[in-house]
Formats: sequence, C-alpha cells, structure tokens
Amino acid sequence: MWDFHTHILPGIDDGASSMEEAIEMIGQLQKLGFRGVVATPHANPMYVPERGLLIELRKRLKSETGFPIIIGYEVAMDTLSVYSPESLAIEGTRLILVELPWFDERFDYEKTLLRLIREGFVPVLAHPERHSHITLEDVIKMKAMGTLIQVNVKSLMGAYGRDVQKRAHRYLSIADLMGSDAHSPQDYIDFIAKGVEYYEGKNFGRYKEQTN
Ligand SMILES: [Fe+2]
Repeated sequence: MWDFHTHILPGIDDGASSMEEAIEMIGQLQKLGFRGVVATPHANPMYVPERGLLIELRKRLKSETGFPIIIGYEVAMDTLSVYSPESLAIEGTRLILVELPWFDERFDYEKTLLRLIREGFVPVLAHPERHSHITLEDVIKMKAMGTLIQVNVKSLMGAYGRDVQKRAHRYLSIADLMGSDAHSPQDYIDFIAKGVEYYEGKNFGRYKEQTN
C-alpha cells in the first residue's frame, strides 16, 4: 500500500516543516502498514520546487528511514502553460497529479486534460470533492476522457467539513486512487489511521508495479 498524495518533503511547501517532522510522518506511514509514499509538493506558475532539491531531500530522508519515496508534484493546472508536463510528472511514470484552480471557476480544465492525454500523459485529478463548483457529471466526463480520479482520505474522514465529506463518498465508487493529502504527522493520527481501509483497491501500488 502506497500513499499517493502527500506533502512530506520538509521545508518545501505548507507540509512537513522540518526533517524531524518528515521522519515522524514516515514513522506514521510505517506504523499503518504503508510500503512507500509519493511526495507531491505544490507546483504553481509562480513556483515549482526544483526537482534536484526534492531528490536531495529524498536522499536524506531515505538514509534516515530507508523508506521508499517517489518524487512528484501536485500541479495547479495553469502551471502547465508555463512548465512542461515532462518536468512535473510522477517519477518513473506518465502520471501527472493535477489540481483544479481554486478561484477561477471558468478555467478551461478540459483543454488542459486533453492536451496532457494527447501528449501521452495520464492526468490524475486531485481531490475533486474539495471543489464545490465541480459536479459528479463533470468528474464522470473527465474520467471518460482518460483522467484518473484521486479522492482524499482526509475528505472521507471529514477533515474539510460535512459537504466535502459527502461529495468524497459520492466520488468513491468512481475513484481510481486514494491519497492522504497529509501535511503533518497529526493528519495521519487524526484521519488516516481511521481511514486506511479506503486504500483497498485504489492504491498506487498497482501503477508502480507497471513501471518496474
Ligand atoms: Fe495536496
């Protein structure tokens, strides 16, 4: 079992604030039976953390814990008008974790998804349940285009309130991948420990096997 969406690399975004905290998050993952984690720091048009820096942080975490970490990004969709999808994909795969804009409800996300698919990438839509202007029909349409759907375990466990939780449960049956979207060790304690069963059948492990 792999955790597909996390903010585990220290000092990069609003996730783990220190190496100690990142190590604590890995301790929680190990305790819950995870075998690896995909680190997905935020990328936006103003700032994409350099991959070399992420690899260096992974090396330090790996030497402390031995825990497998794959490097990726959580890509705000408008980043793709500035940076290439190649530079933002999940390491060793053609998967690219994309996030809808939070404020621009008229953003043409279909155009971005189609472009990625045409260029041979597989977009993974991060937590559609957190975007209230998106409907189940919209998500079904994105899935039919070839987009994978990723639901947050934190959403399912009520971390963002009742409305998000309801939508997350609605999207669960069509979801392909599960992620914690953990930003701290406490997220694992408060939400993921109780929601770990949701990874069943929607786990990044099977995509990873295809790449090996
Ligand atoms: Fe995230």
